[in-house]
Amino acid sequence: MRVVRLGSETDFEGWRAAARALRAEAATPADVLWTVDGGQASLFPAETPQAPAGGEAGFKVSRAFVDLAGRVALHRSPERFDLLYRLLWRLEGTPRLLEIASDPDVSLALDMHSQVNRAAHKMKAFVRFRQVEAQDGADAFVAWFEPAHRVTEATAPFFTRRFANMAFSILTPDVCAHWDTRALSFTPGADPADAPAGDDLEAYWRTYFASTFNPARLRTGAMVREMPKRYWRNLPEASLIPEMTRAAGDRTTAMVEKAPTEPARRIVRAARTDMPTTPGDAPPSSLQAVAAGVDACRRCHLWRDATQGVAGEGPAGARLMIVGEQPGDQEDLAGRPFVGPAGQVFDRALAAAGVPRNETYVTNAVKHFKHQLRGKRRLHKTPETPEIEACRWWLDAERRLVRPRVIVAMGATAARAVLGKAAPIGKLRGQALQLEDQAQGVVTWHPSYLLRVPDAEAKARAEAEFIEDLRLAWSLTDRAA
Ligand code: URA
Repeated sequence: MRVVRLGSETDFEGWRAAARALRAEAATPADVLWTVDGGQASLFPAETPQAPAGGEAGFKVSRAFVDLAGRVALHRSPERFDLLYRLLWRLEGTPRLLEIASDPDVSLALDMHSQVNRAAHKMKAFVRFRQVEAQDGADAFVAWFEPAHRVTEATAPFFTRRFANMAFSILTPDVCAHWDTRALSFTPGADPADAPAGDDLEAYWRTYFASTFNPARLRTGAMVREMPKRYWRNLPEASLIPEMTRAAGDRTTAMVEKAPTEPARRIVRAARTDMPTTPGDAPPSSLQAVAAGVDACRRCHLWRDATQGVAGEGPAGARLMIVGEQPGDQEDLAGRPFVGPAGQVFDRALAAAGVPRNETYVTNAVKHFKHQLRGKRRLHKTPETPEIEACRWWLDAERRLVRPRVIVAMGATAARAVLGKAAPIGKLRGQALQLEDQAQGVVTWHPSYLLRVPDAEAKARAEAEFIEDLRLAWSLTDRAA
């Protein structure tokens, strides 16, 4: 029996190094016992297997496995490292093992992966900072949180990006994360007695929560599933729940007597359950499933810094699909494509071309907002080819479900996603292109490009071309009938 003792409960890199070495020595999963430093004493002496000189041991595993394993390693199950080594061992003989969702090991790993993602999501949603005075008299913020799985180290960078200029600590029983506005550090876990008491900011949280509570949509079971009671004691707004729940009946009757309204997208989103997000998932069978899946998507890393995934919008049977690059700052907040400055240029051009936007399906090649922080501003960053390729899964699903007669690709990113290869806009624009899925394609300028052209004459020309291309695409939807 080989006993491997890892440096900590989240020592994934230690697991990787040892697993690589054990694999090279052909140590079977049954021969290896994985433990963690500080864990129970073992009858067998622990060792640190060394990978053979020359790096990787024989065979390479896919990025998808490494990503999956990195998340599964954060699960609280004591079996996780054994499971991962078993999968690694089996991958050599069955390279496409991860696509067999019915396999018990794969299915367990995928479940654990979803549970860890869910725990990270809950942490992002339910950490509440309390204001305290730091030793130097400055303001600092402290939160107490009890994550369902060991996601603190992996999720802390999210808070440093969100609260870049705010010194904070997140205390958890496993590990504590500290951000001093320059560096992130970790110390051992804390005691619940260290949790900070309430502060003045809590009144704001309660006001906000009360304003978003819809008594007619109260489903206590769903609410407790979405906001499990274990998190309530950290949440200032949780103290309002019993009274709001009690009064929900009367408030609903009053609402029913008023005119009906459309449910807000925010509420629809809140009701979404976990959706397929990993390679091997069944393709979505409706545009609603696309919207939910896009929001939960983890096919690339862009979800991490975005507020939400932004799926396309428009009638399911639209004859014309129009594809942009990716949501911008305002689209990321609103959850809808082309509602910001580029959206205004787009809307004006559609009107000039005689294209009714509400009869088109408008979407983007990439569904999460890629950006970098400059002070408090989030500046657009162009998506790269792997991100475009990862997100094509969603665009292809939208194409299959909407089955447009004509697809307009606005800008280079959209052209790459729609045509499947790089396309020079200047050369290809202004003509009908035959696409693989029977639709016709038109490539044209991106509306943001029109905002950036510095020379007035060139700008006027590009605008006229953009309108001309939209008009051409709309006319093709008739001819292609
Ligand atoms: N730019 C795009 O490409 N898409 C949007 O949704 C907004 C701006």
